[in-house]
Amino acid sequence: MKYKIIIVVGARPNFMKAAPIYQEFKKYPEIETLLIHTGQHYDKNLSKVFFDDLKLPRPTFHLGVGSASHSIQTARIMTEFEKILMKEEPNLIMVVGDVNSTLACALSAAKYRCLRKVYQPLIAHIEAGLRSFDWRMPEEINRKLTDALSDLLFTTEPQANDNLLKEGVEPNRIFYVGNVMIDSLLRFRAQAKNSKILKKLKLKKNSYALLTMHRPGNVDDKADLKNIIQALGKIANSIKIVFPVHPRTQKMLKRFRIKVNFLKLISPLGYLEFLKLMIEAKFVLTDSGGIQEETTVLGIPCLTLRENTERPITVSVGTNIIVGKDPQRIISESKKILNGKGKKGSIPEFWDGRTAERICKIVYDYLRTHH
Ligand code: UD1
Repeated sequence: MKYKIIIVVGARPNFMKAAPIYQEFKKYPEIETLLIHTGQHYDKNLSKVFFDDLKLPRPTFHLGVGSASHSIQTARIMTEFEKILMKEEPNLIMVVGDVNSTLACALSAAKYRCLRKVYQPLIAHIEAGLRSFDWRMPEEINRKLTDALSDLLFTTEPQANDNLLKEGVEPNRIFYVGNVMIDSLLRFRAQAKNSKILKKLKLKKNSYALLTMHRPGNVDDKADLKNIIQALGKIANSIKIVFPVHPRTQKMLKRFRIKVNFLKLISPLGYLEFLKLMIEAKFVLTDSGGIQEETTVLGIPCLTLRENTERPITVSVGTNIIVGKDPQRIISESKKILNGKGKKGSIPEFWDGRTAERICKIVYDYLRTHH
Protein backbone atom coordinates (compact mmCIF):
# COMPACT_ATOMS: atom_id res chain seq x y z
CA MET A 1 0.00 0.00 0.00
CA LYS A 2 1.31 3.39 -0.92
CA TYR A 3 -1.37 5.78 0.23
CA LYS A 4 -3.51 5.84 3.35
CA ILE A 5 -6.90 7.53 3.21
CA ILE A 6 -9.27 8.16 6.09
CA ILE A 7 -12.99 8.46 5.36
CA VAL A 8 -15.00 10.07 8.16
CA VAL A 9 -18.63 9.31 9.00
CA GLY A 10 -20.58 10.55 12.00
CA ALA A 11 -24.27 11.06 11.45
CA ARG A 12 -27.07 9.43 9.47
CA PRO A 13 -26.78 11.45 6.24
CA ASN A 14 -23.06 10.60 5.97
CA PHE A 15 -23.31 6.85 5.57
CA MET A 16 -24.90 6.71 2.11
CA LYS A 17 -22.35 9.23 0.83
CA ALA A 18 -19.27 7.47 2.23
CA ALA A 19 -20.28 3.91 1.27
CA PRO A 20 -19.80 4.13 -2.53
CA ILE A 21 -16.43 5.84 -2.10
CA TYR A 22 -15.26 3.24 0.39
CA GLN A 23 -16.24 0.46 -2.02
CA GLU A 24 -14.66 2.18 -5.03
CA PHE A 25 -11.27 2.61 -3.34
CA LYS A 26 -11.09 -1.17 -3.00
CA LYS A 27 -10.32 -1.21 -6.72
CA TYR A 28 -7.05 0.63 -6.07
CA PRO A 29 -4.35 -1.75 -4.77
CA GLU A 30 -2.12 1.17 -3.80
CA ILE A 31 -4.73 2.69 -1.50
CA GLU A 32 -5.56 1.64 2.04
CA THR A 33 -8.85 3.08 3.31
CA LEU A 34 -9.71 3.48 6.99
CA LEU A 35 -13.28 4.21 7.99
CA ILE A 36 -13.66 6.37 11.11
CA HIS A 37 -17.02 6.74 12.87
CA THR A 38 -17.12 9.69 15.25
CA GLY A 39 -20.16 8.33 17.08
CA GLN A 40 -22.15 11.57 16.68
CA HIS A 41 -25.12 9.30 15.95
CA TYR A 42 -25.16 6.18 18.10
CA ASP A 43 -28.76 4.88 18.11
CA LYS A 44 -29.06 1.61 16.19
CA ASN A 45 -31.74 3.19 13.98
CA LEU A 46 -29.58 6.19 13.11
CA SER A 47 -26.30 4.34 12.63
CA LYS A 48 -25.82 0.54 12.81
CA VAL A 49 -28.72 -0.27 10.51
CA PHE A 50 -27.10 1.85 7.79
CA PHE A 51 -23.85 -0.07 8.06
CA ASP A 52 -25.83 -3.28 7.56
CA ASP A 53 -28.01 -1.97 4.72
CA LEU A 54 -25.14 -0.32 2.83
CA LYS A 55 -22.81 -3.24 3.46
CA LEU A 56 -20.22 -1.07 5.13
CA PRO A 57 -17.68 -2.90 7.31
CA ARG A 58 -17.31 -2.10 10.98
CA PRO A 59 -15.40 1.17 11.27
CA THR A 60 -11.66 0.89 11.79
CA PHE A 61 -12.01 3.31 14.73
CA HIS A 62 -15.10 4.44 16.61
CA LEU A 63 -14.58 7.69 18.52
CA GLY A 64 -17.73 7.30 20.61
CA VAL A 65 -18.35 11.02 21.14
CA GLY A 66 -22.17 10.89 21.44
CA SER A 67 -24.52 13.85 21.89
CA ALA A 68 -23.62 17.17 23.49
CA SER A 69 -23.87 20.88 22.74
CA HIS A 70 -22.44 21.75 19.33
CA SER A 71 -19.21 23.16 20.74
CA ILE A 72 -18.61 20.26 23.08
CA GLN A 73 -19.44 17.71 20.42
CA THR A 74 -17.14 19.40 17.88
CA ALA A 75 -14.33 19.70 20.43
CA ARG A 76 -14.63 16.07 21.50
CA ILE A 77 -14.47 14.87 17.92
CA MET A 78 -11.40 17.04 17.28
CA THR A 79 -9.62 15.74 20.37
CA GLU A 80 -10.24 12.11 19.49
CA PHE A 81 -9.63 12.52 15.78
CA GLU A 82 -6.27 14.15 16.35
CA LYS A 83 -5.10 10.99 18.13
CA ILE A 84 -6.04 8.95 15.09
CA LEU A 85 -4.18 11.34 12.79
CA MET A 86 -1.03 11.08 14.93
CA LYS A 87 -1.24 7.30 15.01
CA GLU A 88 -2.14 6.67 11.38
CA GLU A 89 -0.47 9.57 9.55
CA PRO A 90 -2.83 9.42 6.57
CA ASN A 91 -2.08 11.01 3.20
CA LEU A 92 -5.62 12.26 2.79
CA ILE A 93 -8.78 12.62 4.83
CA MET A 94 -12.21 12.69 3.23
CA VAL A 95 -15.19 14.30 4.88
CA VAL A 96 -18.72 14.24 3.49
CA GLY A 97 -21.75 16.51 3.85
CA ASP A 98 -22.32 19.18 6.46
CA VAL A 99 -22.69 17.69 9.93
CA ASN A 100 -20.63 18.58 12.99
CA SER A 101 -18.37 15.57 12.40
CA THR A 102 -17.54 16.92 8.93
CA LEU A 103 -16.22 20.23 10.21
CA ALA A 104 -14.60 18.82 13.35
CA CYS A 105 -12.45 16.34 11.42
CA ALA A 106 -11.53 18.80 8.67
CA LEU A 107 -10.46 21.33 11.31
CA SER A 108 -8.54 18.76 13.28
CA ALA A 109 -6.71 17.66 10.12
CA ALA A 110 -5.87 21.26 9.22
CA LYS A 111 -4.45 21.90 12.71
CA TYR A 112 -2.52 18.66 12.65
CA ARG A 113 -0.97 19.75 9.41
CA CYS A 114 0.39 22.90 11.07
CA LEU A 115 1.71 20.85 13.95
CA ARG A 116 3.58 18.52 11.63
CA LYS A 117 4.74 21.44 9.47
CA VAL A 118 4.18 19.34 6.34
CA TYR A 119 1.68 19.85 3.60
CA GLN A 120 -0.19 16.72 4.53
CA PRO A 121 -2.66 15.23 4.94
CA LEU A 122 -4.72 16.60 2.12
CA ILE A 123 -8.33 17.32 2.97
CA ALA A 124 -11.13 16.45 0.55
CA HIS A 125 -14.73 17.57 0.96
CA ILE A 126 -17.51 15.67 -0.76
CA GLU A 127 -20.63 17.78 -1.36
CA ALA A 128 -18.72 21.05 -1.28
CA GLY A 129 -20.02 24.49 -2.19
CA LEU A 130 -23.67 24.14 -1.17
CA ARG A 131 -24.97 27.30 0.51
CA SER A 132 -28.34 28.15 2.04
CA PHE A 133 -26.99 31.62 2.99
CA ASP A 134 -28.79 31.10 6.29
CA TRP A 135 -26.33 31.37 9.16
CA ARG A 136 -28.90 30.18 11.67
CA MET A 137 -28.42 26.67 10.33
CA PRO A 138 -25.55 24.81 12.01
CA GLU A 139 -25.00 23.00 8.71
CA GLU A 140 -24.27 26.29 6.90
CA ILE A 141 -21.43 27.01 9.31
CA ASN A 142 -20.11 23.49 8.83
CA ARG A 143 -20.30 23.76 5.03
CA LYS A 144 -18.54 27.08 4.73
CA LEU A 145 -15.75 26.37 7.17
CA THR A 146 -15.11 22.86 5.84
CA ASP A 147 -14.78 24.23 2.32
CA ALA A 148 -12.37 26.89 3.54
CA LEU A 149 -10.15 24.16 4.99
CA SER A 150 -10.30 21.70 2.09
CA ASP A 151 -7.78 21.13 -0.72
CA LEU A 152 -10.08 19.17 -3.02
CA LEU A 153 -13.70 20.25 -3.32
CA PHE A 154 -16.11 17.84 -4.98
CA THR A 155 -19.43 19.38 -6.00
CA THR A 156 -22.88 18.00 -6.83
CA GLU A 157 -24.33 20.86 -8.87
CA PRO A 158 -23.07 23.84 -10.94
CA GLN A 159 -24.35 26.42 -8.42
CA ALA A 160 -21.94 24.97 -5.86
CA ASN A 161 -19.03 25.69 -8.22
CA ASP A 162 -20.20 29.28 -8.59
CA ASN A 163 -20.48 29.68 -4.82
CA LEU A 164 -16.93 28.44 -4.30
CA LEU A 165 -15.51 30.60 -7.07
CA LYS A 166 -17.19 33.65 -5.54
CA GLU A 167 -15.56 32.78 -2.22
CA GLY A 168 -12.16 32.81 -3.91
CA VAL A 169 -11.45 29.10 -4.22
CA GLU A 170 -9.03 28.36 -7.08
CA PRO A 171 -10.86 26.70 -9.98
CA ASN A 172 -8.34 23.86 -10.20
CA ARG A 173 -9.39 22.62 -6.73
CA ILE A 174 -13.09 22.36 -7.63
CA PHE A 175 -14.45 19.22 -9.30
CA TYR A 176 -18.03 18.91 -10.45
CA VAL A 177 -18.46 15.16 -10.14
CA GLY A 178 -22.18 14.71 -9.44
CA ASN A 179 -23.97 13.28 -6.44
CA VAL A 180 -22.39 10.34 -4.67
CA MET A 181 -25.49 9.76 -2.52
CA ILE A 182 -27.30 8.95 -5.76
CA ASP A 183 -24.72 6.19 -6.38
CA SER A 184 -26.11 4.49 -3.27
CA LEU A 185 -29.69 5.12 -4.30
CA LEU A 186 -29.22 3.60 -7.75
CA ARG A 187 -27.21 0.72 -6.39
CA PHE A 188 -29.77 -0.24 -3.75
CA ARG A 189 -33.03 0.74 -5.44
CA ALA A 190 -33.84 -2.77 -6.69
CA GLN A 191 -33.10 -4.29 -3.29
CA ALA A 192 -35.20 -1.65 -1.54
CA LYS A 193 -38.14 -2.51 -3.78
CA ASN A 194 -38.21 -5.95 -2.17
CA SER A 195 -38.55 -4.49 1.32
CA LYS A 196 -41.65 -5.61 3.24
CA ILE A 197 -42.10 -2.26 4.99
CA LEU A 198 -45.34 -1.34 3.17
CA LYS A 199 -46.93 -4.60 4.18
CA LYS A 200 -45.65 -4.19 7.74
CA LEU A 201 -47.22 -0.73 8.00
CA LYS A 202 -50.35 -1.78 6.09
CA LEU A 203 -49.80 0.82 3.39
CA LYS A 204 -50.56 0.77 -0.32
CA LYS A 205 -48.50 2.34 -3.10
CA ASN A 206 -49.45 6.01 -3.71
CA SER A 207 -51.89 6.03 -0.81
CA TYR A 208 -49.77 8.01 1.65
CA ALA A 209 -47.48 11.01 2.02
CA LEU A 210 -44.12 10.57 3.72
CA LEU A 211 -42.94 13.16 6.24
CA THR A 212 -39.54 13.80 7.84
CA MET A 213 -38.77 16.77 10.07
CA HIS A 214 -35.94 17.34 12.51
CA ARG A 215 -34.30 20.72 11.78
CA PRO A 216 -33.84 22.84 14.89
CA GLY A 217 -35.39 25.71 12.86
CA ASN A 218 -38.65 23.75 12.63
CA VAL A 219 -38.83 21.63 15.74
CA ASP A 220 -37.14 23.63 18.51
CA ASP A 221 -39.67 26.47 18.45
CA LYS A 222 -43.08 25.68 19.90
CA ALA A 223 -45.13 28.07 17.72
CA ASP A 224 -43.42 26.97 14.48
CA LEU A 225 -43.76 23.29 15.25
CA LYS A 226 -47.40 23.71 16.23
CA ASN A 227 -48.18 25.61 13.00
CA ILE A 228 -46.59 22.99 10.79
CA ILE A 229 -48.29 20.14 12.63
CA GLN A 230 -51.66 21.90 12.33
CA ALA A 231 -51.22 22.24 8.57
CA LEU A 232 -50.29 18.58 8.39
CA GLY A 233 -53.49 17.80 10.29
CA LYS A 234 -55.50 19.39 7.47
CA ILE A 235 -53.64 17.36 4.84
CA ALA A 236 -54.14 14.20 6.90
CA ASN A 237 -57.90 14.56 6.25
CA SER A 238 -57.20 13.74 2.61
CA ILE A 239 -54.23 11.38 2.73
CA LYS A 240 -52.46 9.30 5.35
CA ILE A 241 -49.18 10.87 6.49
CA VAL A 242 -46.41 8.50 7.57
CA PHE A 243 -43.86 10.08 9.89
CA PRO A 244 -40.65 8.32 10.97
CA VAL A 245 -39.78 10.49 13.96
CA HIS A 246 -36.23 11.66 14.60
CA PRO A 247 -35.19 11.55 18.31
CA ARG A 248 -34.88 15.36 18.45
CA THR A 249 -38.44 15.82 17.12
CA GLN A 250 -39.77 13.15 19.47
CA LYS A 251 -38.25 15.02 22.39
CA MET A 252 -39.69 18.39 21.31
CA LEU A 253 -43.21 17.08 20.58
CA LYS A 254 -43.27 15.64 24.07
CA ARG A 255 -41.84 18.77 25.69
CA PHE A 256 -44.38 21.07 23.96
CA ARG A 257 -47.23 18.54 24.45
CA ILE A 258 -48.23 18.77 20.80
CA LYS A 259 -50.80 16.21 19.67
CA VAL A 260 -49.91 14.27 16.54
CA ASN A 261 -52.39 11.38 16.70
CA PHE A 262 -53.61 12.15 13.16
CA LEU A 263 -50.16 11.22 11.78
CA LYS A 264 -48.89 7.67 11.48
CA LEU A 265 -45.82 7.84 13.71
CA ILE A 266 -43.11 5.24 13.36
CA SER A 267 -39.50 4.88 14.54
CA PRO A 268 -36.67 6.13 12.31
CA LEU A 269 -36.09 3.61 9.52
CA GLY A 270 -33.02 2.05 7.95
CA TYR A 271 -31.81 2.93 4.48
CA LEU A 272 -33.63 0.28 2.46
CA GLU A 273 -36.97 0.58 4.25
CA PHE A 274 -36.98 4.35 3.97
CA LEU A 275 -36.04 4.18 0.30
CA LYS A 276 -38.96 1.84 -0.31
CA LEU A 277 -41.33 4.24 1.48
CA MET A 278 -40.10 7.11 -0.71
CA ILE A 279 -40.41 5.11 -3.94
CA GLU A 280 -44.04 4.22 -3.26
CA ALA A 281 -45.20 7.55 -1.72
CA LYS A 282 -47.64 9.93 -3.39
CA PHE A 283 -45.37 12.76 -2.24
CA VAL A 284 -42.81 13.67 0.38
CA LEU A 285 -42.76 16.50 2.92
CA THR A 286 -39.34 17.12 4.44
CA ASP A 287 -36.84 19.52 5.95
CA SER A 288 -33.92 17.21 5.12
CA GLY A 289 -31.31 18.13 2.51
CA GLY A 290 -30.62 14.70 1.07
CA ILE A 291 -34.28 13.77 0.66
CA GLN A 292 -34.81 16.74 -1.66
CA GLU A 293 -32.19 15.16 -3.93
CA GLU A 294 -33.38 11.57 -3.61
CA THR A 295 -36.98 12.48 -4.50
CA THR A 296 -35.69 14.38 -7.55
CA VAL A 297 -34.03 11.23 -8.84
CA LEU A 298 -37.05 9.07 -7.99
CA GLY A 299 -39.41 11.54 -9.68
CA ILE A 300 -41.53 11.90 -6.52
CA PRO A 301 -42.91 15.40 -5.75
CA CYS A 302 -41.20 16.91 -2.71
CA LEU A 303 -42.40 19.80 -0.55
CA THR A 304 -39.57 21.26 1.48
CA LEU A 305 -40.56 22.64 4.87
CA ARG A 306 -37.85 25.30 4.90
CA GLU A 307 -37.48 28.88 3.75
CA ASN A 308 -34.49 28.07 1.55
CA THR A 309 -32.46 25.26 0.10
CA GLU A 310 -28.73 24.86 -0.34
CA ARG A 311 -29.57 22.42 -3.19
CA PRO A 312 -31.25 24.71 -5.76
CA ILE A 313 -30.95 22.24 -8.63
CA THR A 314 -33.66 20.13 -6.97
CA VAL A 315 -36.00 23.11 -7.58
CA SER A 316 -34.77 24.28 -11.00
CA VAL A 317 -34.42 20.80 -12.49
CA GLY A 318 -35.99 18.37 -10.03
CA THR A 319 -39.34 17.79 -8.30
CA ASN A 320 -38.76 20.01 -5.27
CA ILE A 321 -40.88 23.00 -4.16
CA ILE A 322 -39.85 25.19 -1.22
CA VAL A 323 -42.97 25.76 0.89
CA GLY A 324 -41.38 27.08 4.09
CA LYS A 325 -43.36 27.02 7.31
CA ASP A 326 -46.42 28.81 5.98
CA PRO A 327 -49.43 26.54 6.72
CA GLN A 328 -51.47 27.87 3.76
CA ARG A 329 -48.66 27.19 1.34
CA ILE A 330 -48.05 23.70 2.75
CA ILE A 331 -51.74 22.88 2.38
CA SER A 332 -52.23 24.40 -1.08
CA GLU A 333 -49.15 22.71 -2.60
CA SER A 334 -50.20 19.39 -1.07
CA LYS A 335 -53.66 19.79 -2.59
CA LYS A 336 -52.18 20.41 -6.02
CA ILE A 337 -50.35 17.11 -5.79
CA LEU A 338 -53.47 15.32 -4.56
CA ASN A 339 -55.31 16.76 -7.57
CA GLY A 340 -52.77 15.19 -9.91
CA LYS A 341 -50.79 18.38 -10.49
CA GLY A 342 -47.56 17.34 -8.79
CA LYS A 343 -44.32 18.84 -10.05
CA LYS A 344 -42.45 16.84 -12.67
CA GLY A 345 -38.73 17.12 -13.06
CA SER A 346 -35.68 15.54 -14.57
CA ILE A 347 -32.36 14.24 -13.28
CA PRO A 348 -29.36 16.59 -13.00
CA GLU A 349 -26.22 15.92 -14.99
CA PHE A 350 -23.80 13.40 -13.42
CA TRP A 351 -26.34 12.08 -10.91
CA ASP A 352 -25.78 8.81 -12.70
CA GLY A 353 -24.40 6.34 -10.17
CA ARG A 354 -20.78 6.87 -11.23
CA THR A 355 -19.78 9.76 -8.98
CA ALA A 356 -17.62 7.64 -6.64
CA GLU A 357 -15.72 6.38 -9.67
CA ARG A 358 -14.97 9.98 -10.71
CA ILE A 359 -14.01 11.08 -7.19
CA CYS A 360 -11.64 8.18 -6.53
CA LYS A 361 -9.89 8.60 -9.86
CA ILE A 362 -9.30 12.31 -9.21
CA VAL A 363 -8.05 11.60 -5.69
CA TYR A 364 -5.70 8.87 -6.89
CA ASP A 365 -4.24 11.04 -9.64
CA TYR A 366 -3.85 13.90 -7.19
CA LEU A 367 -2.05 11.75 -4.64
CA ARG A 368 0.30 10.42 -7.29
CA THR A 369 1.27 13.86 -8.46
CA HIS A 370 1.49 15.49 -5.01
CA HIS A 371 3.37 12.88 -2.97
C1 UD1 B 1 -27.59 15.87 12.69
C2 UD1 B 1 -27.00 16.89 11.70
C3 UD1 B 1 -28.05 17.23 10.64
C4 UD1 B 1 -28.59 15.98 9.99
C5 UD1 B 1 -29.14 15.06 11.08
C6 UD1 B 1 -29.70 13.78 10.54
C7 UD1 B 1 -25.40 18.48 12.71
C8 UD1 B 1 -25.23 19.89 13.09
N1 UD1 B 1 -26.65 18.13 12.37
O1 UD1 B 1 -28.65 16.52 13.37
O2 UD1 B 1 -27.44 18.03 9.64
O3 UD1 B 1 -29.63 16.33 9.10
O4 UD1 B 1 -28.05 14.76 11.97
O5 UD1 B 1 -30.24 13.03 11.57
O6 UD1 B 1 -24.45 17.75 12.68
N2 UD1 B 1 -29.90 11.70 19.35
C9 UD1 B 1 -30.29 10.45 19.71
N3 UD1 B 1 -29.61 9.39 19.18
C10 UD1 B 1 -28.58 9.55 18.32
C11 UD1 B 1 -28.18 10.85 17.97
C12 UD1 B 1 -28.85 11.92 18.49
O7 UD1 B 1 -31.22 10.24 20.47
O8 UD1 B 1 -28.03 8.53 17.86
C13 UD1 B 1 -30.63 12.86 19.91
C14 UD1 B 1 -29.94 13.47 21.08
O9 UD1 B 1 -30.90 13.88 21.98
C15 UD1 B 1 -29.27 14.68 20.49
C16 UD1 B 1 -30.24 15.07 19.37
O10 UD1 B 1 -30.76 13.84 18.90
O11 UD1 B 1 -29.09 15.70 21.40
C17 UD1 B 1 -29.57 15.79 18.24
O12 UD1 B 1 -28.49 15.03 17.71
P1 UD1 B 1 -27.27 15.73 16.90
O13 UD1 B 1 -26.33 14.74 16.38
O14 UD1 B 1 -26.72 16.84 17.72
O15 UD1 B 1 -27.98 16.43 15.69
P2 UD1 B 1 -29.21 15.98 14.76
O16 UD1 B 1 -30.36 16.81 15.13
O17 UD1 B 1 -29.37 14.51 14.68
